[in-house]
Amino acid sequence: MKSILVTGGAGFIGSNFIKYVLGNTGHSVVNYDVLTYAGNLENLVDVEFNDRYKFVKGDICDKDAVTEAVDENGIDTIINFAAESHVDRSILGAEEFINTNVMGTLVLLQVLKEKGLSKYLQVSTDEVYGSLPEDKPELKFTESTPITTNSPYSASKASADLLCNSFRHTFGLPILITRCSNNYGPYQFPEKLIPLMIAKALNGEDLPVYGDGKNVRDWLYVDDHCSAIMTVLDKGKDGDVYNIGGNNEWYNIDIVKLILKKLGKGEDMIRYVKDRPGHDRRYAIDSSKIMNELGWTPAHNFEDGIELTINWYVENKNWWKKVMSGEYKNYFEQNYGSKMS
Ligand code: NAD
Ligand code: DAU
Repeated sequence: MKSILVTGGAGFIGSNFIKYVLGNTGHSVVNYDVLTYAGNLENLVDVEFNDRYKFVKGDICDKDAVTEAVDENGIDTIINFAAESHVDRSILGAEEFINTNVMGTLVLLQVLKEKGLSKYLQVSTDEVYGSLPEDKPELKFTESTPITTNSPYSASKASADLLCNSFRHTFGLPILITRCSNNYGPYQFPEKLIPLMIAKALNGEDLPVYGDGKNVRDWLYVDDHCSAIMTVLDKGKDGDVYNIGGNNEWYNIDIVKLILKKLGKGEDMIRYVKDRPGHDRRYAIDSSKIMNELGWTPAHNFEDGIELTINWYVENKNWWKKVMSGEYKNYFEQNYGSKMS
């Protein structure tokens, strides 16, 4: 059995992943998270007393603290989810993205090397591949698509991937990289498209759609991302990159209309606002490598996944109402104030 340090385990995907690991494997997990605005231990109340789970508050940029967490808990594997993850915030200010996503990854790689750990998995993103043309639907991101970074967020994630490659190449370390498309599901912070639109619709507020609403994203239910990461951890080839996606492309505007329909609300709530600067037009992932070489397939289709997700937000209003107060209000004003005027 493995003893896994999950960094960023109090965020959206990390918390779903910890529950997935505890429910589906015998591995132990230390959740190492500094608890930024996006980190929320309420996501993990179901498992907080599980014998195989422990929380340690700490920053991935703090090498002594990471080393201590590794030593004290007999860690043999690191899975790095910790990141600043929201593109709009990276446009408002890039420093934290470079600190956490680049410098933090460097610290983890140094600890991997110094402690001789048996595995490191970097949770990366399809955004490192840039944007695809709309008029060539046959084109998708493969693992050999050149890195093209269009936002400070994607530049920081790509930089981290390149550091991982360099540590693999130079020191021969056991490093894997996964690059997933857009996730959705329970516990996603309501700054991202799907939970934001559900929360706004339930609150009776306008739904802000950027530009013409015709940007395309490829959506995957979060549990399927979790199962893919476990598959890569168990069967992936050191040094390789694995794309993960659901083969499920949607125009943003169609997702927004679907959410409104499912909640019994009218399309008059849609408000087109100024576009995100540098907005990538289309993402689409080719997952044939992980499917053919490692035998992974997603278990959820979009119809079921979006139903589960909408129901979760309807039933857990307290969760999202709480996180949408305080700091969130300042961010919302900063990001949307000028877009809506
Ligand atoms: P999130 O913003 O919900 O969570 C990030 C977590 O990292 C939070 O708990 C936060 O407290 C923690 N964190 C931030 N800085 C830290 C630091 N310096 N030290 C320790 N912990 C820190 O993000 P998410 O949506 O769950 O994404 C998780 C990972 O998956 C990220 O690396 C992201 O780039 C990647 N990813 C996300 C998606 C998506 O659709 N959300 C898709 C592909 C890849
Ligand atoms: O592709 C993987 C990436 O997906 C992850 O690496 C990122 O961490 C994650 O945030 C996500 O990035 P996106 O920028 O694609 O996600 P976001 O939910 O912010 O936006 C999805 C689409 O919806 C995008 O085209 C912008 C649009 N949008 C978003 C918001 C927040 C709107 O139209 N209105 C909005 O208010």
